[in-house]
Amino acid sequence: MGSNEHEIGVVGTGIMGAGLAEVAAAAGFSVILKGRSQASADAAFAIIEWSMARQVKKEKRTPEEAAALLTRVRRTTSYHELAGAGIVIESVAENMDIKREVFAELDRVCAADTILATNTSTLPVTELAIATSRPGQVCGIHFFNPATLMELVEIVVPDVTTENTVARAAAFVSDCGKTPVRVKDVAGFVVNALLFPYLNNAVRMAEAGTATAADIDLAMQGGCNMPMGPLALLDLIGLDTAVSILGTLAKAFAEPNYEPVPLLTKMVENGHLGRKSGQGFFNYGD
Ligand SMILES: NC(=O)c1ccc[n+]([C@@H]2O[C@H](COP(=O)([O-])OP(=O)(O)OC[C@H]3O[C@@H](n4cnc5c(N)ncnc54)[C@H](O)[C@@H]3O)[C@@H](O)[C@H]2O)c1
Repeated sequence: MGSNEHEIGVVGTGIMGAGLAEVAAAAGFSVILKGRSQASADAAFAIIEWSMARQVKKEKRTPEEAAALLTRVRRTTSYHELAGAGIVIESVAENMDIKREVFAELDRVCAADTILATNTSTLPVTELAIATSRPGQVCGIHFFNPATLMELVEIVVPDVTTENTVARAAAFVSDCGKTPVRVKDVAGFVVNALLFPYLNNAVRMAEAGTATAADIDLAMQGGCNMPMGPLALLDLIGLDTAVSILGTLAKAFAEPNYEPVPLLTKMVENGHLGRKSGQGFFNYGD
């Protein structure tokens, strides 16, 4: 059976999984959103419903458009439902062992011509590709957070990936109204390799007490015209995800500046993960 280019699979129901599903459904694709449990798939769907309600309230979408978008997102807990998708994007936790398991399942059930993509921020896409029976049809499709708002998508291209896969991935990204940038499979790609030393150094400053968290952010917003300060950005990314990204970069480049600052690691150990846990450098309690 061949795959259906109008159907997109999303594996993972965290911050990025929900965002990716909304972006693809907004572009008119049928989306199959796979969670580990029905509850996690339902929670991600609820985020999309909340987003639709907000867009209707702001008159960015009619109620009919919002309702139609929601009908294009199907929830599941079964890999088999992803079998016929043209592209499946894996967006589970930033951990190679977990991603490898997900890719093994996808490789087993998906149609021979389905593209298996990863939304990883830093992990080696080549390693995921060569572990499958279809290395030519694996690439990174790296969206940014929040996926609904951010325009850039990095298409990460291992040496083993075919040009046809790159073209199909780039066409999908363009259909989603985003701008694709082609990048080699090097840790951190373009954006995170440049961004994370800056974020890590902002934590170092907070740790040293150079200024308060609020003032560090205010300084970079006012002094460099950043739309958001580095510590608020870390809270948005998720501090656990940030620690994983920094760890991979530190290993890849043997560069001490990438080693997660102890304060960051300590905050993760204390369950302070940023917005998703309600507490990070700033408080998000209601
Ligand atoms: N947060 C960001 O700013 C951002 C931006 C771009 C890309 N990414 C990447 O997107 C991916 C997901 O990140 P996120 O921010 O959505 O994380 P998250 O913590 O919000 O969600 C992680 C998801 O992984 C699932 N998961 C965890 N362990 C699993 C397992 N053993 N098997 C199957 N699923 C499992 C969780 O249930 C959850 O759905 C990561 O690779 C991350 O690097 C994140």
